[in-house]
Amino acid sequence: MSAADPMLRLDGVTKRFGGFTAVDGVGFDLPRGAIGGLIGPNGAGKTTLFNALAGLVPPDSGRVELDGAPIHGLTPNRVFAAGLARTFQIPRPFPEMSVLENTMIVGANQAGERFWMNWVAPGRVSTEERALRAKAEEVIEFCGLTRVRGDAAGTLSGGQLKLLELARVMMADPKIILLDEPAAGVNPTLMASLVDKIKALNARGQTFLIIEHNMDVVMSICDPIFVMAQGRLIYQGDAAGARAEPAVLDAYLGDLP
Ligand SMILES: Nc1ncnc2c1ncn2[C@@H]1O[C@H](COP(=O)(O)OP(=O)(O)OP(=O)(O)O)[C@@H](O)[C@H]1O
Ligand SMILES: [Mg+2]
Repeated sequence: MSAADPMLRLDGVTKRFGGFTAVDGVGFDLPRGAIGGLIGPNGAGKTTLFNALAGLVPPDSGRVELDGAPIHGLTPNRVFAAGLARTFQIPRPFPEMSVLENTMIVGANQAGERFWMNWVAPGRVSTEERALRAKAEEVIEFCGLTRVRGDAAGTLSGGQLKLLELARVMMADPKIILLDEPAAGVNPTLMASLVDKIKALNARGQTFLIIEHNMDVVMSICDPIFVMAQGRLIYQGDAAGARAEPAVLDAYLGDLP
């Protein structure tokens, strides 16, 4: 990790909806290999910031660099190809298709998908398909889905679907994975499993940026932590510092009924 060479650099990122500024001049660096946590009260602008990073709602102003290359203003597909993966950039799983098929489909952008390759170079296709299948099997095992690999995605539980989302994102070998509330609606056992997977992937060098309301998850795996309130970044630093920061406390108390 080097502060001078961040994986993700935001500078003055701003997104307005009409006269309302949902993301207001947000700038920060996320070091390579970190699990960044993005927190803040409801409506703070966290999801909008993710959408801006992913190219879904292009920022009105500001810069975003991924691994040193500018990505602001790119289409979602180009941002994804550049290595920033947000789970829902990948099409939702097909409910009738198996876990394995749904996983393989994300990695299938290579020669095998170009239909004419089947005709002009069938050998190459089957080699690539074998490699794709082997990779999918490995990713599925890593995500703890081996037992259900042949099951239709439509039969999975909510937690298993989250693991499938992670598996499918992993197929793209992204430089950074953005997760928006991965723990929401997941039972405690699966949540622990999901957290383990994130930690294990991170130990292999995977960089993450995670929006999460579950403070146990945030405090146990995220560093640094970025706090947003009313579109602005009001804190960045470690978890202990976030707890001690009066502006953070105010933001959350202000959110109470
Ligand atoms: N497409 C849009 N058009 C108009 N306003 C929007 C749009 N998307 C988001 N907003 C507004 O921007 C603000 C920030 O919303 P956002 O969803 O980014 O918050 P959040 O921090 O993700 O909140 P939560 O924790 O509840 O998910 C909200 O006031 C929301 O109503
Ligand atoms: Mg949100």
